[in-house]
Amino acid sequence: MCHECGSPSRRSFTRFLAAGAGLTVLAACTPEAPKAAPSSSAAPSPSPSPSALSASAGPTAETATVSQSPESPSPTPSPSATLARQFSLDDPKSQWVIVNKHRPLKPADYVPADLVRPAVAISAAGEAALLNSTTAAAAEAMFAAAARDGVAIVLASGYRSYSTQVTTYNGYVAARGQADADTASARPGHSEHQTGWAFDIGDGGGACSFQPCFADQPAATWAKANGHRFGFVVRYPWMLHPITGYYYEPWHLRYVGVEAATDMLNRGIGTLEEYFGLEAAPAYL
Ligand code: DAL
Ligand code: ZN
Repeated sequence: MCHECGSPSRRSFTRFLAAGAGLTVLAACTPEAPKAAPSSSAAPSPSPSPSALSASAGPTAETATVSQSPESPSPTPSPSATLARQFSLDDPKSQWVIVNKHRPLKPADYVPADLVRPAVAISAAGEAALLNSTTAAAAEAMFAAAARDGVAIVLASGYRSYSTQVTTYNGYVAARGQADADTASARPGHSEHQTGWAFDIGDGGGACSFQPCFADQPAATWAKANGHRFGFVVRYPWMLHPITGYYYEPWHLRYVGVEAATDMLNRGIGTLEEYFGLEAAPAYL
């Protein structure tokens, strides 16, 4: 599935976003209220202990259901039966947990037990510099590989607690209204950032931070092309907001494991909802 070749083009869609209805991709996903630039600080810290599968919930705890997405008339594919491991879609400790507007975190105030600070370049402060240990290890490997290719990637925003998401979301609502806020910021208890499995990246030079033009920055293009090698997918792809509920966030990466991320790429599946055969979640129920 090509996310870049639909109509309208990304450029025209970006203009639409910028001009119309005050849509919020310009600062989506930032831990602070809208218009606040991500904080910069922080030096790398010691590497966390990688625990690729041990920190995750165990083998399959749920059978994915099959449904149809609004953009796909054929039955939505489910995870390849050939994948060696299967994980829960419900347990926030699982690398396959699906959190969206139809699937709040349970418990809503979940806190990962294994938050660590990855040894990567970080432009975030406090809890936002943390990831769960599996994601942190994968991020370290990915950032290092990007650096070997001459691409600087920065961790711009990682873990976000429930209470931080309250502040973030309320900031969006206050600035832009709830309908617009809901296109860019998850309501408390509905953000992948709270799981430790997701984080936002920035470019080494800080160009186009949390803006649509970030999609064309080296960090974004490299991560989009190579993230699967380290277990990451771009969680909110271009033009798939009718399924994910959020506009394109080229900076928001989600760890699902190398096998699943590579399987999605090879099968041309853009969203986790489609991959796992879940219903589209464009709006809250
Ligand atoms: N910007 C994403 C959807 C979040 O707030 O988690
Ligand atoms: Zn994000």
